[in-house]
Amino acid sequence: MDQIASPADAAIDQPHGMRYGELARIEVLASVSIVVPTYREVENIPLIVERIARVRNECLSNLELIFVDDNSADGSVEAVEALGLDWVRMIVRTDERGLSSAVIHGFRAARGAVLVCMDGDLSHPPEVIPQMILALDSGQQFVIGSRYVPGGSTDDDWGILRWLNSRVATVLSRPFTSVRDPMSGFFALRKTDFDAAANLDPVGYKIGLELIVKCDFENVAEIPIRFADRVHGESKLSLKEQLQFLRHLRRLYVHAFGNAMHFLQFAAVGASGVVVNFAVLTLLLWMQLPEAACLAGGIVASLISNFLLNRRITFSYARHGNIWLQFVGFVGASSLGMMVNYGVALYLNATWLQGVPYGLYAAALCGITTGLVFNFLGNRYLVFRTRYIRR
Ligand code: GDD
Ligand code: MN
Repeated sequence: MDQIASPADAAIDQPHGMRYGELARIEVLASVSIVVPTYREVENIPLIVERIARVRNECLSNLELIFVDDNSADGSVEAVEALGLDWVRMIVRTDERGLSSAVIHGFRAARGAVLVCMDGDLSHPPEVIPQMILALDSGQQFVIGSRYVPGGSTDDDWGILRWLNSRVATVLSRPFTSVRDPMSGFFALRKTDFDAAANLDPVGYKIGLELIVKCDFENVAEIPIRFADRVHGESKLSLKEQLQFLRHLRRLYVHAFGNAMHFLQFAAVGASGVVVNFAVLTLLLWMQLPEAACLAGGIVASLISNFLLNRRITFSYARHGNIWLQFVGFVGASSLGMMVNYGVALYLNATWLQGVPYGLYAAALCGITTGLVFNFLGNRYLVFRTRYIRR
């Protein structure tokens, strides 16, 4: 990035460590839309507007602030109106609730070339936004206000549980990105990149992570921030939201690792089927049914539970298809798979593995593996076809 600071400018440091030349440069560079999702943040609204206003006066006159409020009905609308600022507006949604979908809604309505997302409870310091814009200008695609890079921190009152929670979530998202703080809800990106993002899934509250993965950003920068504890109001992230995050993660894994992930789930469901089979077998034996019936009962039960779990989890994209047709297909593929399993085991046992110690077990194992792969491919590409995907 070329500097336009004169030697005199260089001497005058700003509170956020920037020179006037850089500030002037930002001014020409960017029209910025800050989107703040809010739910019952009436006390915080005037405070955050005041802090953003200072940044705006300093170097970002072309800045609009959009609150996306999910019908808090706590006087938030009136609080924004009372300010009477033409660069601040509030969108009230009455038909939906959720942090991520609120942010997406706000980004779509934004007019700026640069989009910034931040919390409404003053946890995120708007003072670093100019630095974020400079980073975008120097070629970064996504800029995060980060707690976990040198210089970043969180306020001390973070309970151990919340800290642990944040850390575990960060580790679970490591396969997608090496970013230190992918859970951050404070970030900036270009409007054009956002508009190009295909099939965003606004489940849960980790919209930043969703964007990093779905937009396939390679140049992600992190700017250290101090994450302040909220003073007014309370956190909206319930246990339900945390569980939603697991759902979100699973979808991201499928998105990023496609078939490998489908296969892993298919195998896990298969393993759970063994447990179901044995449980039912034990139950029926306890009921003193004939052994042949007990064995059959175990198989049928595991076939059904495998089918339902695969339909709901492994191939969830196809769960709107006709369940009966899918069940017939599943049983068909599974019986074929069983025959493939048997055939491969018989063949190997009679040829390659003949006379080898434990050859029969090795043959059985090869049969099982081939059967599993066969089953998987049959189900993935014939029974639960992608054409069932409903967007
Ligand atoms: N519109 C809307 N709808 N806004 C919401 C909703 C909702 O359903 N739920 C929460 N918000 C708003 C809050 O009003 C606040 O402005 C912001 O989203 C963050 O919510 P908090 O309840 O303060 O979340 P937090 O402090 O626990 O979580 C923060 O830290 C996480 C990292 O640990 C947020 O920054 C998250 O984005 C971040 O991922
Ligand atoms: Mn908060």
